[in-house]
Amino acid sequence: MKTIAITGKGGTGKTAVAALLIKYLTEGNNTVLAIDADSDTNLPAALGDTVENTVGGMRESLLEERDKLPPDTNKKSLLEGKIYSVLVEKPRYDLLVMGRPEGPGCYCYANDLLRGIMDQIASNYEIVLIDTAAGLEHLSRRLIRDVTDLLVVTDGSRRGLETAERIRDLVTELDLNIENLYVVLNKVTDTNRERLQEYATELNLKLVGMIPFDDNIADFDLEGLPLAGLPPDSLSVIEVAKIAKKIGL
Ligand SMILES: Nc1ncnc2c1ncn2[C@@H]1O[C@H](COP(=O)(O)OP(=O)(O)O)[C@@H](O)[C@H]1O
Ligand SMILES: [Mg+2]
Repeated sequence: MKTIAITGKGGTGKTAVAALLIKYLTEGNNTVLAIDADSDTNLPAALGDTVENTVGGMRESLLEERDKLPPDTNKKSLLEGKIYSVLVEKPRYDLLVMGRPEGPGCYCYANDLLRGIMDQIASNYEIVLIDTAAGLEHLSRRLIRDVTDLLVVTDGSRRGLETAERIRDLVTELDLNIENLYVVLNKVTDTNRERLQEYATELNLKLVGMIPFDDNIADFDLEGLPLAGLPPDSLSVIEVAKIAKKIGL
């Protein structure tokens, strides 16, 4: 199994990269699980999928049941059964949306669930791709760990680059068992290309690709069209295919 997690500051293009990697993968023969781990669910729309049930949404019923269960119930298999009921099965990939936990309380429970799911279900797939929320919480809470490739997406914004730096430091500090840590430069233009490349070198992160600012993405975004439908000659589609090959997909 190969696990790829996509991280970085909000708005840098994590979901776009995730959707385009999945688009690329649908042309191959691997079994693929896509996980939208952002409570502000965006990946299904980028893929053109409609999702009704989320892991967060089943939180309440799980909590309720937990108290009524006989003590010898296998809670793990109960959880797994429930997870399968929220799994969206597409012809070329399955999609799991974490969503937002309903009711009061923190995200911890949903986060713990995510960890459980990754351990239990992910092993059934050859490739697992996780689109994470902005920020560092997934890493600092050790929910994203044991991954093959962590892609840190950044655009040319100062804050995007600073977040990339913090992610790099956190990964080293927490010993998260990440085989490869890569930076993906996104929305690259002729004006910022050179500076961004320099910055990636300074970051001491392996630069795995530079995705140009793509007018097609901007147009699709404006029209509310799924990025998975981008034409194959789109600059972003071409570059993401190169990235996919570099990381062995
Ligand atoms: N290469 C690109 N060219 C043009 N626009 C892009 C590109 N990548 C992402 N975008 C746009 O940037 C915005 C944020 O992208 P998104 O993938 O939602 O970021 P994130 O998931 O990191 O918050 C969206 O409006 C998206 O259409
Ligand atoms: Mg996103």
